[in-house]
Amino acid sequence: MADHSADAAVAKTIYPPSDLIAASAHVDADGYEALYSKSVEDPDGFWGEQALRLDWIKPFNTVKNTSFAYGNVSIKWFEEGTLNVAANCIDRHLATRGDQTAIIWEPDSPEDAAQHITYKQLHEEVSVFANVLKELGIGKGDRVVIYLPMIPAAAYAMLACARIGAIHSIVFAGFSADALADRINGSDAKVVITADGAPRGGRVTHLKTNCDQALRRCDDHVKLLVVKRTGEQTTWDDKRDVHFEDIRKTVTADCPAEEMSAEDPLFILYTSGSTGQPKGVVHTSGGYLTYAAMTHQYVFDYQEGDIYWCTADVGWVTGHSYIVYGPLANGATTVMFEGVPTYPDAGRFWQVCEKHKVTQFYTAPTAIRALMGKGTAPVEGSDLSSLRILGSVGEPINPEAWTWYNENVGKGKCPIVDTWWQTETGGILIAPLPGAIPTKPGSATKPFFGVQPIILDDKGNELVGATEGVLAIKDSWPGQMRTVWGDHERFVQTYFEMFKGYYFTGDGCRRDEDGYYWITGRVDDVINVSGHRMGTAEVESALVAHAAVSEAAVVGYPHDIKGQGIYAYVTLMEGVEATEELRKELETWVRTEIGPIAKPDVIQWAPGLPKTRSGKIMRRILRKIAENDTGSLGDTSTLAEPAVVDDLIANSVHAK
Ligand code: PRX
Repeated sequence: MADHSADAAVAKTIYPPSDLIAASAHVDADGYEALYSKSVEDPDGFWGEQALRLDWIKPFNTVKNTSFAYGNVSIKWFEEGTLNVAANCIDRHLATRGDQTAIIWEPDSPEDAAQHITYKQLHEEVSVFANVLKELGIGKGDRVVIYLPMIPAAAYAMLACARIGAIHSIVFAGFSADALADRINGSDAKVVITADGAPRGGRVTHLKTNCDQALRRCDDHVKLLVVKRTGEQTTWDDKRDVHFEDIRKTVTADCPAEEMSAEDPLFILYTSGSTGQPKGVVHTSGGYLTYAAMTHQYVFDYQEGDIYWCTADVGWVTGHSYIVYGPLANGATTVMFEGVPTYPDAGRFWQVCEKHKVTQFYTAPTAIRALMGKGTAPVEGSDLSSLRILGSVGEPINPEAWTWYNENVGKGKCPIVDTWWQTETGGILIAPLPGAIPTKPGSATKPFFGVQPIILDDKGNELVGATEGVLAIKDSWPGQMRTVWGDHERFVQTYFEMFKGYYFTGDGCRRDEDGYYWITGRVDDVINVSGHRMGTAEVESALVAHAAVSEAAVVGYPHDIKGQGIYAYVTLMEGVEATEELRKELETWVRTEIGPIAKPDVIQWAPGLPKTRSGKIMRRILRKIAENDTGSLGDTSTLAEPAVVDDLIANSVHAK
């Protein structure tokens, strides 16, 4: 484990913005205060002005029409306005920056050549892709599932959907066939876009094969559009499968952008919650793009000529907002990386930074911790002098990792923007603006414009001053999700029921004496594994679907690299023997049911689980055992069988 007392000391250090950054940044400290006040006092004026950063076809009259009132939750921004998101990300830049690189694609293997795609080329590729989708019968409002590696075609597919008004739903290529099938069915998609294979870290995932498997569980009318990546042999169903390259030859590169309402859905993205199966988060067009573009510009201090790199995958929201939509709306050059930080060696990130002269680098704490473990030599091997801003996202960054990042990657001269946000928020809600807000290691610092964070006690009372509780947001911002696909009731229940009048984030949070926010982690049954969000209920339902398992309870526990690991307590069916083989089989089972990211780190055989007399599993106790904090189990007298706990402690992974 990291030395937390040292962490605590580091977290008290304050790093003011350097003079160099402050001189060129979009706002300084006073500018931030003034704009922030305006944004909360006059949201209509503030956001009405900000939305003009986009090209509208028909102007909006109403800026904000939102209500968090339980029973009447409704979120609409720029209602009467019409626009096209793809035209905003591409067409409007053509006159001024047609020959500028829009996307730099860095492939998995450094032996293969990088690609530089200009805005003109992007326009052509997206238009062709959009016409291919039209050939397959896709039009406004239709759903398209994208299951692709991190290749330019992923961005083309997203923007092609946006161009013709189709709604994309990206499924991370690391998800299994089963998870893919659930998402295809969940949004009733007409077309799935995939590739033959996905190279990553020198290994290949056979995406087409996964799609074949998934589609067995889907409607016969779903078409599979296959893009070539590896060129490997795949099976083929002539009635269903279509080679992208074949139809591409039959279409033109002329595809007018569809006029969309500001509130038309742009995409659905499934994310894990504390209960049940993942839900389809719906983001719309005008507000989402305004917010993604503005946050990208301010949080990363994006300036003309910058080479901006976010290492996320487009399968997650970070890839949507900060690889594709935000940067392209701003006319930026955005890097898309197919590989992993440690392939072929632990210097890859830094080699790519040097090669493309990256100015902003945005990654996850889990990657930093993994690289920290490899020492400083791989960082020292590359020239990182082009870097100006470093970013962090996905989970709390421990001060030790923050300091390593600051000293070794940023050489003490790059502000670190620790950005707190969620799939639901569409864009960054809390982060230090470089040039305006001094940073403290481990704190996401201050809210973005228009965002009013509130700390509540568990009864829903607003707490003031330096305090700790759960994090809620008081009023809407344009990037907020609008609903859960097909289940508005679930949207209202999940985010607005527990604390009436607020958007409830699911995170715990501390506010210090300087008004800085420190996210302490989820307060619900969501765990954050390597920055990937996972519902314990999902892993449990995968486990109990196995014939040998009678019951399962899953909790998170601290993990040095991943942030949190998955700890599963498994009760076997009567007569089934607990063997090492079965343990391996269950691990593989969960990988196949959900994907490699859901594989339990620990499986503990549990002859019994701690339950109340009414049969409710007491997760608090299971969490404590997994965290090896058994000295403070609290009251166990209400348990139906208190002896179960002793057995679990005696056989926990820590007891061995
Ligand atoms: O717990 C918070 C954590 O990640 C959750 C959101 O996960 P997801 O929807 O997958 O989006 C991740 C990328 C935006 C949050 O509820 N989280 C995200 N960023 C941070 C964070 N926790 C602490 N600090 C952060 N910077």
